[in-house]
Parts: sequence; structure tokens; C-alpha cells
Amino acid sequence: MTSVDALKYDVVVVGAGAAGMMCAIEAGKRGRKVLLLEKAQKCGQKILISGGGRCNFTNLLAAPEKFISDNPHFCKSALRQYTQSDFIALVEKHGIAFHEKKLGQLFCDESAKHIVKLLETECAEGGVTIWRGSGADMINKTDDGFSIYTGRQQIHSESLVIATGGLSIPKLGANDFAYRVARTFDLPLAPLRPGLVPFTFEPGDRERFADLTGVSADVKISIGKIQFRENLLFTHRGLSGPAILQISSFWQSGESIMIDFLPDIDLANLLKEKRQSQPKLKVSALLKEFLANRLAVAVLRNFDNLPEVGNLSNIIIQDLVKTIKLVKIIPSGTEGYAKAEVTVGGVSTAALYSKSMEVKSVPKLFFVGEAVDVTGFLGGYNFQWAWSSGFVAGQYA
Ligand code: FDA
Repeated sequence: MTSVDALKYDVVVVGAGAAGMMCAIEAGKRGRKVLLLEKAQKCGQKILISGGGRCNFTNLLAAPEKFISDNPHFCKSALRQYTQSDFIALVEKHGIAFHEKKLGQLFCDESAKHIVKLLETECAEGGVTIWRGSGADMINKTDDGFSIYTGRQQIHSESLVIATGGLSIPKLGANDFAYRVARTFDLPLAPLRPGLVPFTFEPGDRERFADLTGVSADVKISIGKIQFRENLLFTHRGLSGPAILQISSFWQSGESIMIDFLPDIDLANLLKEKRQSQPKLKVSALLKEFLANRLAVAVLRNFDNLPEVGNLSNIIIQDLVKTIKLVKIIPSGTEGYAKAEVTVGGVSTAALYSKSMEVKSVPKLFFVGEAVDVTGFLGGYNFQWAWSSGFVAGQYA
């Protein structure tokens, strides 16, 4: 092989995250000569830190409804071509032990490292060349493919797959490469914003909830018709926990969120019933049965001299319901990309074929994974999108 041949590849995949590695594996299995370029010294950095180090690698309930996109139908084709069962079979093939934590979320029993090892092993079996510590700086379209410039050299490739992810966690090297490439080719972008991210309080709410730092509660949370039932956590800066992360992906600046701290209880009816059956019962005693102690104390601070349940007026009952079940909060903002698990928005699905992730206007150019305007709910859905979109591009690149 001459040195010139050595820099010619059938497929260059830029970014060795979940989507890029899956794509490289599949293209390699098809006999394509594949180069996987990774800017960092290690592949799969986000996989390694995901799921608290255990990687929530997919979800048994993965389905198109669990994804956010300007075009909610776009993800269907890839999710159908490579399902959660396909990835589970791969995990089983590599003998990686896993368990369902809750709500269909599958985690490694031991370490996320096993998932990266699986992907690296499959890359090696597919004959994929990996250059670590070698980022793509620039790309150009040529008559017969693409030129990719790294700090080291210029590479020529027939197909080019952009799998460089989104903007979340810049300290791991997250950057806007995918969006810059999209702009180079005049592709539309769906507006970007941090998703699966904690909220910050405005000063008044920070004071109002100051005593609750560290308290968690099972809540129903909503923005309009969008609703989640999960845990919420008060932090010293605002709100976090799965319920908040889920709803944050739908939140637009300035919008209010509604929180129900007693989602299983019709509080008005309960208080009215107790007014008859246990009139001497203290409201505080009743609330502490259902709410975390500190939360109950904080709620009751809004009411001076609450009478016993038997003497509660309908107006006070309404006020209690408002304070516990209809809590309205307007976050001042989010913790931003530094804390966001994902970037919502990205390369517009209108520019891509859903079957292959290929750019409609630029044959043999593909975008996969988080760079694309498809964002999963919390719970393993984002990795499933990475596997599915990477897989389909790997069949065509
Ligand atoms: P990803 O960002 O993973 O990979 C892109 C790669 O491209 C990186 O390795 C980057 O270094 C490289 N790159 C960037 N620019 C480059 C360039 N110019 N040249 C070469 N390489 C370049 N999801 C889930 O389903 N379950 C979970 O448990 C979690 N947990 C989780 C925790 C935390 C803290 C975060 C931040 C995120 C999660 N996620 C998650 C989300 C999940 O990590 C994310 O959706 C996927 O990693 C996206 O995969 P991609 O391959 O698209 O991008």
C-alpha cells in the first residue's frame, strides 16, 4: 500500500461517541474501509460518565413518542431498523450483565466501560481504523467525495459521517462542529437549547425554597399538556431530579411549570372528609403523612394559625390545594450546557432522509446521533437514538 492509498478511505466517521462508533462498526461489517476520527484521547467519553458510570444504554419502552423533534415522525425509520432489542442482543453477545432499574431503563450491573469495550471490540472486528486525539478541523466537498483535514493530515473519503454530538458538557470537548458543517452545506438547523438540565430559581423563589435544599419528592410536573410523574429534587440553586430534567427539554424561557406535590391524592376531598371523620386532627399531622417533613413545614409556613381540620373553611382548603398541588414556578433559567445531558434541536430533519440519515442535497454526507434534531427523554432513549441512527447510516455510508 502506498502512503497515498493509506489516506483514502471509503468512509470517514467524525466522532467516536455512541452514534459514530455504531456507524463505523456497521460500515466496517459491510466491508467498507472505515476511519473513525476522535478528537479526545479516549472513545465514548460520554458513555463512560453516563448513568452515574453504569450507562443507561437503552430503554425497553423506546418508541417514537419518547423523542422530541420538529418532525416527530422522523425517528421512526431508524428506531424500527435498529431496535432496543437489537442493542440488548449485542450487550448479551458480549456477556455484559445488566438490569432494569425502573421504567424500562437498562443499566450495566458493573461499569459503562463495558459498553465502550464492546464498541471498540466490534470496531476491531469490522476492521475499523481509529485515530484517537485526532479531530477533524475542516472538510471540503470534492468531485468524488470529501477532503477531511485533521491537525495531522488530509484524508480523502467517499462517504462522510458527522457524529460529533451536541453542545452539552463543553469540558468534555463538546463543540459546534456538526452545526458548522451543516452551515457549510446550507442545511437548516432547528434552534438549539440545553435539555435534560436543572432549572435555576429567580431570587424570590430561591428565598422561598431555601430551607428545602436536598429534599426530594415524587411529583407530577407539567407545562401545558406535557406531563411527567417522577422525582423532583430541591437544590441550592433551583430544581433538579428526573421530573425536572424531563420537563426541561420542553421548557422555553419565561414559561411557567406546574408542580403537584401530592399527585395521588385529591387533597380537597381528603380534607373535607377528615373535617367530618377526624375534626380534631391537626393539618400538620395530616400533611406529614404524605409529604416529606421539611416540605410540609415549608407549606405550613404560608398559613398563620391553621385551625384543626374540623374548622377548616372551604377557602383555606382551596388555598392549601393551591400551595401543594398547583405550585407555579417560573424558572429564571437553566444550568446551561455545562450541566445539560443533551442539546435539543440540531441539524434539521428536513435536510435528511430518515431511512439512512443521508443529507438530501449532498449525497454521501450523513449526520447521526445528538447532532440531529432528535432528542430523547431521560432514561436511555438518547443512546438508543445514537445506536439506531448510527446503525442506519452504517448501512448506506
Ligand atoms: P457524543 O457527544 O457522545 O460523541 C461525539 C464525539 O465526537 C465525542 O467523542 C467528541 O469528542 C467527538 N468530537 C467532537 N468534535 C470532533 C471533531 N471535530 N473531530 C473528531 N471528533 C470530534 N443518554 C442515555 O441514553 N443514557 C444515559 O445514561 C445518559 N447519561 C448521560 C449523562 C451525562 C452526564 C450526559 C452529559 C449525557 C448523558 N446521556 C445519556 C446522553 C448521551 O450521552 C448522548 O445523547 C450521547 O452520548 C450522544 O451520542 P453521540 O455519539 O451523538 O455524541
